[in-house]
Amino acid sequence: MVNVAVLGYGTVGSGVVEVINTNRELIAHNIKDDIQVKYVLDLREFPGDPVEKILVHDFDVIVNDPEVDIVVETMGGVHPALEFSMKALEAGKNVCTSNKELVASHGYELMSAAAANNVNYMFEASCGGGIPIIRPLYTSLAADRIEEITGIMNGTTNYILTKMYYEGADFADVLREAQEKGYAEKNPSADIEGYDPCRKIAILSSVAFDRQMDYNDIYTEGITGITAEDFIYARALNARIRLFGTSTSTEEGVSAMVAPFMIDASSPLYSVDDVFNAIFVKGNMLGDSMFYGRGAGKLPTASAVAGDVVDMARNLHNTVNKIWDSSKIELIPHEYAKNAFFVRVKGSADENRDVVNSLFGKVVFTEVPELVNECAFVTGIMTEGEFASAAEKLPGMITRIRSRLA
Ligand code: HSE
Repeated sequence: MVNVAVLGYGTVGSGVVEVINTNRELIAHNIKDDIQVKYVLDLREFPGDPVEKILVHDFDVIVNDPEVDIVVETMGGVHPALEFSMKALEAGKNVCTSNKELVASHGYELMSAAAANNVNYMFEASCGGGIPIIRPLYTSLAADRIEEITGIMNGTTNYILTKMYYEGADFADVLREAQEKGYAEKNPSADIEGYDPCRKIAILSSVAFDRQMDYNDIYTEGITGITAEDFIYARALNARIRLFGTSTSTEEGVSAMVAPFMIDASSPLYSVDDVFNAIFVKGNMLGDSMFYGRGAGKLPTASAVAGDVVDMARNLHNTVNKIWDSSKIELIPHEYAKNAFFVRVKGSADENRDVVNSLFGKVVFTEVPELVNECAFVTGIMTEGEFASAAEKLPGMITRIRSRLA
């Protein structure tokens, strides 16, 4: 019998219990052993819920029970999730999690503790919810040098941007509606300011590039500055605006950022709408690949956690994943990162042509009938620093969005 303890009976934790109970026979067949959830840890009571029978309020009951093989940490936040995970690993128990905040900040220490105790620390559900992405990076793509990871890694913001595109609505209105429907948190800043995808791209990059990427080093911009007017241009250009977490590794070094990008149908991420996530990975042998699916939600995320449970049940005393190197990746400084930019500026194209051409070279202007007395253009690829100093000299600039328009 493989015994599992689930820490935190919230959305994901209750989903993990549901997945294991619903698919118990199938999982038992796959691991060639029976499996059960022996404990659920939560501060709350759940009267009438079958989980009542296995509910405990004291973590020591779990960590001191030699029968517990696998601890599922679905508490969220860094503390006490870190201390509980560390104690479980040191007690020789495998740990898996959906907690991107914890993995991004303490993943290396936790994986090292797992290896020191011949157990596993797994975190498939921390990035892309139910989408398999960590395991493919560790296994199927292990013979490739990963050159780029770019993804829509946040369902809340993709829902908001999709609504703004189709309905022409303002950011604030769509956010309010998303909160009413439960897609966005009451405090939505982790999503809309880009902190959530920042942690996810840091984790994916650390796995892919095999060295620690510190999320604090990643330039991060959310979607709060995106307006209904930006989408008028997006529709005119047959483009979409997506919040990307992106990192690249070239001979020049490693670069990473989180920011909204304008993209067109040449991008595989163009048609990823609503709460869906998709992660594009480019390997030096594989070329382009895409991982698509539900990046959040109870059962999709629980499915990824339960996949880790199965993997760990098959490898209870055998550390499977390679630990990334603890030396930190020195990112290319933000001012040297290269992008193209979609720029809106006051005045007509004719009024702006000379100054824009002198600052940015020859560009193609777009004017839309809905927005009088302004125009837009897309620059060529330039460094962030070059763009910032040219933009300072551009009178009447309204906004800019990074562009990957073909
Ligand atoms: N708030 C996150 C999202 C949840 O919207 O994608 C999954 O990490």
